[in-house]
Amino acid sequence: MTNTTSSDFLVVANRLPVDLEPDPDGGPGTWHRSPGGLVTALEPILRQTNGAWVGWPGTPDVDLEPFVEDGLTLHPVRLTETEVAEYYEGFSNTSLWPLYHDAVVTPTFDRSWWKTYVQVNERFARAAAQAAAPGATVWVHDYQLQLVPRMLREMRPDLTIGFFLHIPFPPPELFLQLPWRREIIEGLLGADLVGFHLPGGADNFRFLTRRLLSAPAPRPGSAGAVEVGDRLVRVGAYPISIDSAHIDEQSRSASTQLRAKQIRVELGDPDTVLLGVDRLDYTKGIDIRLEALRELLEEGTLDPEKIVMVQLATPSRERLTAYAQLRDDVERQVGNINGKFGRLGRPVVHYLHRPVDRDELIAMYACTDTMLVTPLRDGMNLVAKEYVACHGDGSGALVLSEFAGAAWELRRAHLVNPHDLDAVKRAIVAAVTEEPAVKARRMRSMHTQVMKHDVDRWARTFLDDLRAARS
Ligand code: ADP
Ligand code: G6P
Repeated sequence: MTNTTSSDFLVVANRLPVDLEPDPDGGPGTWHRSPGGLVTALEPILRQTNGAWVGWPGTPDVDLEPFVEDGLTLHPVRLTETEVAEYYEGFSNTSLWPLYHDAVVTPTFDRSWWKTYVQVNERFARAAAQAAAPGATVWVHDYQLQLVPRMLREMRPDLTIGFFLHIPFPPPELFLQLPWRREIIEGLLGADLVGFHLPGGADNFRFLTRRLLSAPAPRPGSAGAVEVGDRLVRVGAYPISIDSAHIDEQSRSASTQLRAKQIRVELGDPDTVLLGVDRLDYTKGIDIRLEALRELLEEGTLDPEKIVMVQLATPSRERLTAYAQLRDDVERQVGNINGKFGRLGRPVVHYLHRPVDRDELIAMYACTDTMLVTPLRDGMNLVAKEYVACHGDGSGALVLSEFAGAAWELRRAHLVNPHDLDAVKRAIVAAVTEEPAVKARRMRSMHTQVMKHDVDRWARTFLDDLRAARS
């Protein structure tokens, strides 16, 4: 049963799948797709399960009743301006985000941000408790809501609660820096099943339950479940994926193929198109790939008359200093490369600081010879999988950071350590110059993997395990 008052299946995430852009004239505003991989992955799942989604509409101080948008039942949670600053920009994205991504930027810990994080988590738990039908399944997502499982269990012990973390779960020595480390682990243990992308994250979490809560070591035959009082909490690895069949089909359509050809013409018909597609985030290594490209052009290894790079960078968390700084750096790098190697009407790097629509994105993937995915750390990176799904014909090559979760499955990519600039340069050259037959073997093998392990399988596996955990 799903209506706007109570549902048997609920997704709870910081953001709704759509984002409200306020109207400067005070009108009702416009809804856009929300940024990020969480929404890409969960939207098709929610459509299939006919459930409802609890989340923030992306703008402070808006009060909205539950509503149906494009067939999805949405329960908006209101956040004030201060809560956005302290819970979302502060604790979630200045403390947890950098800490969980190997502290590539130094995390800041602030006691008032923490208090607001607790307060907002309580509000999400209450909203979920209200929207869930008796005995419903509630699937809580990501680092912004790690206290919700425990809070929700206390409010509604009848519910089956799953939690999935979309970003890396850090090694214990980093996690232990967090002043509220015990509260976070206890919060997560409110779930019946806690899921991570990779086994390493699950192992880190189990270790921390022993270290911080003196939980006993998992019993043999319990599949690594953690004992909490009289409850058993299952813990596992579930590498997230994409709607592979849909993207594969779309990439092969006549309209995509036509658009892909047009894009190459618009780019000046180069021999090689390189592409990067990211939120403009310091974890993504956009600056690293630009630096590698600059050096390759300077040395003459790549010819600016023959190569073009496109970098799509969706604006993200723009009020935070680290993000504003990154934007300046990236834009300076793009300017340097074009100033030195471009000519009138023919920049070497095309840079778009805005989201592009899905059809255009698929056509860009399809027309790209070498995809550059070079994060310093990334939970999964769906962009890498989307690119592979668009190359069922065996064309294209993927340069992929070893520190993206996707590297665990896409072993035939040109895997690279993004901290090693020479290695990144070598990987780009290898990908660009590889024999077509070798290229095709690599790509076909990755394509098979992505087609088989799609988002539907990810969700089914998680939800089957959740059901089993509860029973
Ligand atoms: P993250 O969740 O950290 O942003 P992912 O690579 O897992 O990283 O997911 C990003 C999602 O956002 C993908 O589905 C990708 O297609 C989409 N995306 C990223 N950049 C853009 C862009 N410039 N325009 C449109 N979609 C984008
Ligand atoms: C990543 C996170 C998501 C987040 C998304 C976009 O995918 O795992 O939880 O929604 O980035 O970031 P934003 O801060 O704009 O929600």
